[in-house]
Amino acid sequence: MKLNELTRRRTFGIISHPDAGKTTLTEKLLLFGGAIHTAGAVKSNKIRKTATSDFMEIEKQRGVSVATSVMGFEYNGYKVNILDTPGHKDFAEDTYRTLTAVDSVILVIDCVKGVEEQTRKLMEVCRMRSTPVIVFINKLDREGRDPFSLLDELERELGIHTRPLTWPIGIGARFQGVYNLYKKQLELFSPNKTRISEDIVSIDNVASPLLDEHLGPDSAARLREDAGLIEGSYEPFNGEHYRDAYLAPVFFGSAINNFGVKELLETFVTIAPSPLPRDTTVRKVDPAEKAFSGFIFKIHANLDPNHRDRIAFCRVCSGRFERNKYYYHTRLDKELRFGNPTSFMANEKSIIEEAWPGDVVGLYDTGNFKIGDTLTEGEHLAFKGIPSFSPEIFKELVNRNPFKSKQLDKGIRQLTDEGVAQLFIHREGNRRIVGTVGNLQFEVIQFRLLHEYGAECAFESLNIYKACWFTCADPKQLERFTSLQGRHISYDKDDHPVFMAEGTWSLKSAQEMFPEMEFHFTSEFKTDVAAER
Ligand code: G4P
Repeated sequence: MKLNELTRRRTFGIISHPDAGKTTLTEKLLLFGGAIHTAGAVKSNKIRKTATSDFMEIEKQRGVSVATSVMGFEYNGYKVNILDTPGHKDFAEDTYRTLTAVDSVILVIDCVKGVEEQTRKLMEVCRMRSTPVIVFINKLDREGRDPFSLLDELERELGIHTRPLTWPIGIGARFQGVYNLYKKQLELFSPNKTRISEDIVSIDNVASPLLDEHLGPDSAARLREDAGLIEGSYEPFNGEHYRDAYLAPVFFGSAINNFGVKELLETFVTIAPSPLPRDTTVRKVDPAEKAFSGFIFKIHANLDPNHRDRIAFCRVCSGRFERNKYYYHTRLDKELRFGNPTSFMANEKSIIEEAWPGDVVGLYDTGNFKIGDTLTEGEHLAFKGIPSFSPEIFKELVNRNPFKSKQLDKGIRQLTDEGVAQLFIHREGNRRIVGTVGNLQFEVIQFRLLHEYGAECAFESLNIYKACWFTCADPKQLERFTSLQGRHISYDKDDHPVFMAEGTWSLKSAQEMFPEMEFHFTSEFKTDVAAER
């Protein structure tokens, strides 16, 4: 197939439990992609903490990446866009939102640890959206677990079918390389951090004596046995099944040693989906449509601390985005023009003239955007699938300086528009409830309110377990619920009522009293009736 601007784009995210090797793999992909030239040049989100002129002061202070960045590069005629996600679990919501803007993901697993807590949560989000997944099992140079048991665990715990495309020969100190089950070749390992090409030996099949020659008789016999088991117990790889998010191809390697990364990248660009159609409130938008459309999935504050400007990250969904053209902001019913749209190539930013579906464009914003906003060439529609998830921690925002209440109000609204946290308003007394995934955000908010808005605040703990958006087929029951539970109902950023459940018991008893009510842990739902996760 001849590649065009649409079909040559691969937009994806790399996800992992912290420390599995996401940053290292990102860097190595950029290295193989030619976007950077020396290892260590870009350590994705992690090294930005030491980079100059960076996005947020807070990032430097805490050494935790608050930002989600975008890295694009060209590879074998493909345009690859990596949407990086913060590894820190307190910023999980940020990661969830970034996953709305990708077409597939690479999941990194540490072969010593297997499936970990964040792996489960992130995969849950991928499953919700049927995002295709490729698994990279990393750190084969360490004494990790048996590969069959790792694959079993992936299937069992993540609810996905797996299919190894490469297979490790030994592990840890005895790690000799991988056998590429599809290309039928041996890729021999030598621990060398700067080497880019691998020693590759093509063989006809596993019976080949070349195996014994290169691996020794014991490893060769073991590989033959393993290969037989794989053929017998796994379905053959099927690209459609992968793109339907039914089957996850699995690669083994060692990112720090550049091992297995090139195979991963080569296979990734050929099998991963190009930009996919996306649902809106009105209709499905096909990426091949002529008219431009896109949505904002991330807002980044104060690129320049002297100006209160922000950068809104827009994922192009259809058509061609052009610099200096007027686009329609569907929520505000307003035309906007962007004179300096920015693209990202590894750690460099540059102004662009155009962008295509799958690309992410940075738009300078003076306060027009909220997460989830849609831009079009005039059609009134809004992209779906950018829900808010119920936060985990809820605190009441308390003003500490009555002379600055306007600043506090503006500040908290802008920060929550950016997605730093969620804001719920309790109508009685206009109380402001801030919900986050982790405690760190409260510190971020406090710091930013003070430094950017001059407002002083404190947070008081609240006894809230989950925010539950609700629906009810019976309007009478809905009305009765709303008036009886008024004390526990607050309103989200879109003014939708949300039941702030104090515990599983309160949710259960509400459900028993009002059987027609449906509770949801996300702001956008089809059938995801709230159940204990
Ligand atoms: P993350 O973004 O998923 O949090 O992980 P990151 O890439 O930062 O990797 C976490 C640690 O694991 C790093 O070590 C990194 O060097 C190491 N690592 C990554 N890939 C491999 C691998 O294939 N084999 C081995 N043995 N280690 C690997 P660190 O000591 O925490 O940091 P650093 O000082 O090396 O940067």
